[in-house]
Amino acid sequence: MATAGSAVGLGNIWKFPYIAGENGGGAFLIVYLICVLIFGLPLLMTEFIIGKKSGKSAFGAFQALRKNKKWQWLSWCCMLTAIIIMGFYFVVTGWCFHYVVAAVTHSFKGLDTGAFSEHFTSLVNNGGSMFAYSLLAVLLTAIVLWFDVNKGIERMSKILMPLLLLMMVLMAGRVLMLPDSNIGMKFFFQADFLKINPQTVLAAMGQSFFSLSIGMGAIITYGAYMPANQNISATSLQVVVLDTLVAVFAGLIIFPAVFAFGVDPAEGPQLVFVVLPAIFEQMSFAWFSGILFFGLLCVAAVTSTISLMEVAVAFLTEATEKTKHPLNRHKSVLVISAIVLVMVAFNGISLTNDGTWLCWEGKNFFDWSDMLSANIFMPLNAFAMALFVGWFMDKKDVRNQFGKQDSWLYRIGAIYLPLVRFLIPLAILAIFLNGLGIL
Ligand code: TRP
Repeated sequence: MATAGSAVGLGNIWKFPYIAGENGGGAFLIVYLICVLIFGLPLLMTEFIIGKKSGKSAFGAFQALRKNKKWQWLSWCCMLTAIIIMGFYFVVTGWCFHYVVAAVTHSFKGLDTGAFSEHFTSLVNNGGSMFAYSLLAVLLTAIVLWFDVNKGIERMSKILMPLLLLMMVLMAGRVLMLPDSNIGMKFFFQADFLKINPQTVLAAMGQSFFSLSIGMGAIITYGAYMPANQNISATSLQVVVLDTLVAVFAGLIIFPAVFAFGVDPAEGPQLVFVVLPAIFEQMSFAWFSGILFFGLLCVAAVTSTISLMEVAVAFLTEATEKTKHPLNRHKSVLVISAIVLVMVAFNGISLTNDGTWLCWEGKNFFDWSDMLSANIFMPLNAFAMALFVGWFMDKKDVRNQFGKQDSWLYRIGAIYLPLVRFLIPLAILAIFLNGLGIL
């Protein structure tokens, strides 16, 4: 449940629709589903195996399994990735908080998508207000980690996350009754294979990593907490199914609405923030639906920020443990929060009109963080982790993680090993080099 909480977040509801929209809809969906199956599932298992076998977080895991420090660099890459992701993730979480407030104060009543677009533009141009909302999100996350109330949050999200899914089903039902919704359905479900190009494939692979929280050591940490009798393949499969279900539902809601309201599906990060308020205007109990949905979205976002920040905090605590200046959990929470706030400020400023100095090659700092983390850092970290388990861990140890000998689960191990030894690293590398135009 905790891993599902980490996986289901803004990646599914905010990022998936906008990336799919930018990459041709149906063609992207097919490639995405393939990536989830051939990369997502085995790589989720890979991180679980590293964590469960070592009993350590991303900082100590590789070291513990190899009994030397040669793999320490990979821990640092995970940490760097966490910091980059948090920089923009907290900004978007801040937007969600803002939208709860806007929904409560009735700011959307009677407006059309043009006005929603303006609303969004004025939000991102008000750097101070944006920072305040992100600060709120950082504070909430830091408080949870400070008081170690993860358990309470998990219990709460066990009720709230199914509620979010239920709400999404209702919204999908409403959206499908809109005029022209069939155009959106076609866009999302009809694959035009001519639209698939190397960039689409790279984007789909990156999105599958991001959505499943793979390639950053988060799942390693969760694996370390896994009870010995818990089955890795079954858990991974459940997480993958749930996460993918939420993403597909998000697409099912957004795309019919996009076409019904005449919005451009390739609008970028603002897509869902323009379309969602328009959907609520069409629903019964518009005011209440908007508040409820954005509220639940905030919960989904915060269960993910908790997992992101936990990786960095655990890392810092363990990394400084044996030094002259050890940082305990509380100090680590403070240091990481401070670093994250600096990143948040850069991300936020780069979105405003005064942020042109934070733009390179037509992309701002926010876009770069978003793109670099998913399309470069996470695939490379996952690539290294696959090689680590495939080539540097004891084969028997790996296979024993799958279950009792001769059980059918144990046999999955026989398929898994060649995948992480050969197919996955080679495929990641090929997609990566191809997508960047190097191959
Ligand atoms: N998977 C989350 C989402 O879809 C984001 C996330 C949380 C994440 N923890 C992570 C991504 C760790 C990478 C690594 O919103």
